[in-house]
Amino acid sequence: MTALTRLSLTDFRNYASLTLPLDGRHVCLYGANGAGKTNLLEAVSQLGPGRGLRSSTLPDMARSGSAGSWTVAATLADEHKVGVTLDTSGGSSKRVVRLDGAPSTATELAEIVRIVWLTPNMDGVFRGSASDRRRFYDRLVLAHTPSHASASSRYERAMRERNALLERGHVDPAWADAIETRLAESGAEIAINRAHVMDSLQAAIEARPEGHFPKADISLEGAAEQAATRGDDFKSIFEMLAETWRTSRRRDMAAGRTLEGPHRSDLAVIHRPTGAPAKDASTGQQKALLIGLILASATALKAERDGPPPLLLLDEAAAHLDPDRRAALFDEICALGGQAWLTGTEKFLFDSFGDRAQALHVADGTVTAEN
Ligand SMILES: Nc1ncnc2c1ncn2[C@@H]1O[C@H](COP(=O)(O)OP(=O)(O)OP(=O)(O)O)[C@@H](O)[C@H]1O
Ligand SMILES: [Mg+2]
Repeated sequence: MTALTRLSLTDFRNYASLTLPLDGRHVCLYGANGAGKTNLLEAVSQLGPGRGLRSSTLPDMARSGSAGSWTVAATLADEHKVGVTLDTSGGSSKRVVRLDGAPSTATELAEIVRIVWLTPNMDGVFRGSASDRRRFYDRLVLAHTPSHASASSRYERAMRERNALLERGHVDPAWADAIETRLAESGAEIAINRAHVMDSLQAAIEARPEGHFPKADISLEGAAEQAATRGDDFKSIFEMLAETWRTSRRRDMAAGRTLEGPHRSDLAVIHRPTGAPAKDASTGQQKALLIGLILASATALKAERDGPPPLLLLDEAAAHLDPDRRAALFDEICALGGQAWLTGTEKFLFDSFGDRAQALHVADGTVTAEN
């Protein structure tokens, strides 16, 4: 099972040096505002691919006043030892990954540690912009398919090159062809990743119990994703995208940017009990729907690989739920297995976990276990 039995931090955010007394159960962090609870979840999120739970830059996470490097190291229940360091020696900053004492890669680490999170920032995702939803969904895709990160950065790089070319006002066709080929390769990969995760997510939504966290009907809006959902192969999606961009150069030049492609796709979400778009649901309904989606994503990760359930990081999820929903959430978390990390300002929020979780008090850069 994926669970941390030890977590230690050096110069990470407000923690100079910290080793958490973990026993492998779920972890409930409680303490005052500003105590450092979210910082701990952010530290755990560094063990997964991407920039972590706050999408901060690597240097931002270094403790103010420290030399600039930081380390997050953990022991897993299966005895693997993993660590991520921001190394600032030699003038540059680079992320260094270690696995069982030897240098490793983010990709190798991603095979061992899977992480899904929910933060208060995501609360507005259904009402927000398409780009908010795309980012939210791509984060889920990344947890399933770590190579999604490199496809996304290749796509963004090629997109910047194409936009720069369009801005010149005169497009050299051979040059544009070359850029659009790279754009279409990474774009097709992105669309296929998104569609693949959508399949597992939909299956996991159906498999979840009816109850306090309503089901969502979700789909991807975007020509390439829809083609991938229909089962079109890489080559035909690649050709479709390349053709789209080849024939829209003049229009895109007038607009000053690339108007179509997977960077414009959206996630459509329907609140199944009412049949209405999620953006029209009440605040509480949206939160419950979001929790349901995150739980489904964790279930999908477990099912897809027939592997251990992921680490689940839930920042301030408990505070906004009534006691029945809180108890239902904790029951679902326990049924999922793995290890969940939850935060809240008060210890009583976690009472219905009983002895299925350990409570840790967070105050000013120190963390104490409760007996
Ligand atoms: N790079 C940094 N170096 C030192 N301290 C930092 C750094 N970044 C953030 N902090 C401090 O960490 C604290 C915030 O921690 P965090 O967001 O984890 O609090 P929290 O316990 O989650 O609070 P809340 O209940 O309000 O969400 C703040 O006091 C902030 O000043
Ligand atoms: Mg917080």
